[in-house]
Amino acid sequence: MTDLWIRPSGAALGADIHGVDLSRPVSDAQFAEIAEAWKIHLVLRFSGQRIDDHQLMAFSARFGELDRVPIAAAHAERGGAGLAPDVAPWVTVISSIVQDGRPIGGLGASELVWHTDMSYNPLPPRASLLYAIEVPPSGGDTSFLDMYAAYETLPAALRTAIDGRTCIHDSSHNSAGELRKGFQETIDVSRTPGAVHPLVRLHPASGRKALFLGRRPNAYIHGLPVDESETVLDALWAHATQERFAWTQKWRIGDLVMWDNRCVMHRRDAFEPGLRRLMHRTQIVGEPVVAG
Ligand code: SIN
Repeated sequence: MTDLWIRPSGAALGADIHGVDLSRPVSDAQFAEIAEAWKIHLVLRFSGQRIDDHQLMAFSARFGELDRVPIAAAHAERGGAGLAPDVAPWVTVISSIVQDGRPIGGLGASELVWHTDMSYNPLPPRASLLYAIEVPPSGGDTSFLDMYAAYETLPAALRTAIDGRTCIHDSSHNSAGELRKGFQETIDVSRTPGAVHPLVRLHPASGRKALFLGRRPNAYIHGLPVDESETVLDALWAHATQERFAWTQKWRIGDLVMWDNRCVMHRRDAFEPGLRRLMHRTQIVGEPVVAG
C-alpha cells in the first residue's frame, strides 16, 4: 500500500488520484495502483501538480513508448512555444496564445468536436496526457465519453448493423474543423482520406469491446451506400454521445488529465479567443486496432 488514494468522479468514467507528486519519481507500488485505477476509470486526474516537460515525459513514459507530436502540431509550434530541443519531438503545445502575430500552439480557442486522438493514423495513440499550465477563467472544459458503455448499451439493431464493419477516420481535418495543410475538402465521404478501423475494437489490455468512432465529420462505413452509412453513423453518434456516458473536466492550473484513447472519446468547449490557455500534451504509442 502507498499514500495514494482514488476518488471516482461518480460519473460514467473519471477519477481523481490524490497523494502523488508527479515531479518526483513514481514508485513501482504507486504506479501499479495508478495503472489499475486507469483500467477501471479510463480517465485520471492528478490535481495541484507542478511539473516541467521532462517530468511530464518521464511520468508518461511509464505507460509505454512516447509518441512523436503530430506533424501539424510541429508546424504550429514554430511560432515560439519555447520547448527545449529534446522535448519538442514529444510534447504537443495546445494553446490559444498568439505571440508576435503567430500562434504558439495548435487548436486555438474554438470548440473541438468529439474525437479520438489521431485515429486517422493506422496506430492511434494508446493514451494522451494533458497538463494545464494556463487556463481561462471560464470555458475550455474538456468532456470524456466511456466507449465501453456506449458499446455495451447499443440497441440490438445497431449492433447488427455494424457487425464486422469498418469505418474511415478522416485525416484531412483536425478536431477544430480546420483543413490540414496538403489536403482538399471532401466531396464524397466514401473517398475520405485516413485510416480504416473496425467500428468495434477489442481493448488489448482489458479484453473488453468498445465502440471506435473516431470523429463524425467525413466518416464513412465501408461497403454501405453513402446514405445508409450516414443513417447508421447518425444513430451511433446519437447513442454514444449521451450524457450518461460522459464526465467533464473543468481545468485548473496544475491539473494533469490522462485518458485511454482506445476506449474514450473527448471534446472541448470553445472559450473567448482573447483568453490565454496553455496545455502541454504527451501521447503513448498505440497497438494495432483489433476488431471486437
Ligand atoms: C485534445 O483534443 O487533445 C485537446 C483537448 C483540450 O484542449 O482540452
